[in-house]
Amino acid sequence: MGHTVGVDVGTSGTRALVIDEYGVIVGTGTAAYSSQIPKPNWVEQDPEVWWTSTCDAIRQALLDAGIAAADIAAVGIAGQMHSSVFLDAAGEVVRPAILWCDQRTGQECDEITSVIGAERLLDMTCNQAITGFTAPKILWLRKHEPEQFDRVRKVLLPKDYVRFRMSGEYATDMSDASGTLLFDVRNRRWASEAIEGLGLDSDWFPAAYESPEIAARVSAVGAKATGLAEGTPIVAGAGDQAATAIGVGAVEPGILLCTIGTSGVIFAHMGSPVSQPDGRLHMFCHGVPGKWHVMGVTLAAGGAFRWYRNTFCAEEERQAREMGIDIYDLIVEGARSAPAGAEGLVFLPYLAGERTPYPDPNASGVFFGISFRHSKEHFARAVMEGVTMSLLDCLDIVRSLGVPVSQVRASGGGARSLLWRQMQSNAFGVPVSTVNSTDGAAFGAAILALVGAGVYDNVESACREIIKVTETVQPDTESQGIWDGLHSLYSGLYLSLRDSFDRRASLLKACAHDGGGGN
Ligand code: XUL
Repeated sequence: MGHTVGVDVGTSGTRALVIDEYGVIVGTGTAAYSSQIPKPNWVEQDPEVWWTSTCDAIRQALLDAGIAAADIAAVGIAGQMHSSVFLDAAGEVVRPAILWCDQRTGQECDEITSVIGAERLLDMTCNQAITGFTAPKILWLRKHEPEQFDRVRKVLLPKDYVRFRMSGEYATDMSDASGTLLFDVRNRRWASEAIEGLGLDSDWFPAAYESPEIAARVSAVGAKATGLAEGTPIVAGAGDQAATAIGVGAVEPGILLCTIGTSGVIFAHMGSPVSQPDGRLHMFCHGVPGKWHVMGVTLAAGGAFRWYRNTFCAEEERQAREMGIDIYDLIVEGARSAPAGAEGLVFLPYLAGERTPYPDPNASGVFFGISFRHSKEHFARAVMEGVTMSLLDCLDIVRSLGVPVSQVRASGGGARSLLWRQMQSNAFGVPVSTVNSTDGAAFGAAILALVGAGVYDNVESACREIIKVTETVQPDTESQGIWDGLHSLYSGLYLSLRDSFDRRASLLKACAHDGGGGN
């Protein structure tokens, strides 16, 4: 009875795990899906696909574990944050979800800031308006699709939609609610003043629980679809970043999380909320009850590396197939053969605009410093280094707040690469460790379910028992000079190009109005 299920409703797929009371993974299931890009900088997904994929993944995990559904003590769900699910009075999805990485809402962010006031917004929500957050998506719907907006009766986040399908109940948790820009993060409740100030309805937002609290139970319909037993408790769960932090044990001061998944994240636990006059980092509730965290987000991290692979590496794909190895291992081997600093080739990873440190939907990707000297290996290395420097930008802001940084725990696909972990350690100047699970968010969700089921008293003690460091890389102090020089060049590039990014965005808009232009 000490087993739990953890689910992560991610951007590229859903992952489900069954773990035992010691945190040992005994069954896994995965179902992949893709995103729709109806226009440049727009990214959408159909919530129905999250639900069917969750059902597939849970069924696989239960089968893999060979555990009877009745032996599952609780379920925890984590998921991609911020993405908007609009439901009508019958609980039907009104339009495809607008994702966390969608950049269409620049004007709505300006509108929110001017209606509420920048300072007041920071005061009420602890955050500034950013295109990825949920509130500007709701305003976008009101302006651009008023008929759909008129049908809206509930606004849910991805994992909360999956919970709704599994249980028929509306609920969220405080870490995920924090990313709506409509949550009073300091006081851990909905910010009714912000909701009403923007002309929205407080009834649209579900009750917000602390992450390990039981928030719903599997319904008869949910049981039939997932293979879980009717009545199984579902804990509130967490946004994927807070869940990942729990899944690597970043639940106390000094231990930071660095995720390189589709996005990249630097995440630091906080005992209390800090005031950030410029709001450059996100300040959210942690999945640990009564705790908070700050977070910087690189929108395209592993996503930039995947784009590089898909766009330039057909030959490596063929070779990897022939050799029976993972294509990423081949690309990373190539990157390793290029010298640190990629002989002056610098990559800005702003393929989907950026959030931290520059909340700029118009920023775009750049390779700078190309010469005849550069080979594909240099490009692969530059992509890895560019993502690392974007994460360093986030870490520098964390440090500027006086937050202690003694150790970084690596997670996400990027953590698999020793070269990438060594780059992080060198650039950040701290040890970078991996832990006994690579299943970050789904693992964290399963731990939250263990706490909700009463197997552990609290999240911290569960993490102390379950999470073990497996490997640590130490910073190579000799490379510090290279990283300092590289980072200063990298940072200067964004500042010099900001104007050109805006002009490029206007040009793209004009081309779109022309119907894509002539010959
Ligand atoms: C966090 C964020 C992403 C998504 C997808 O603020 O936008 O990390 O949660 O993983």
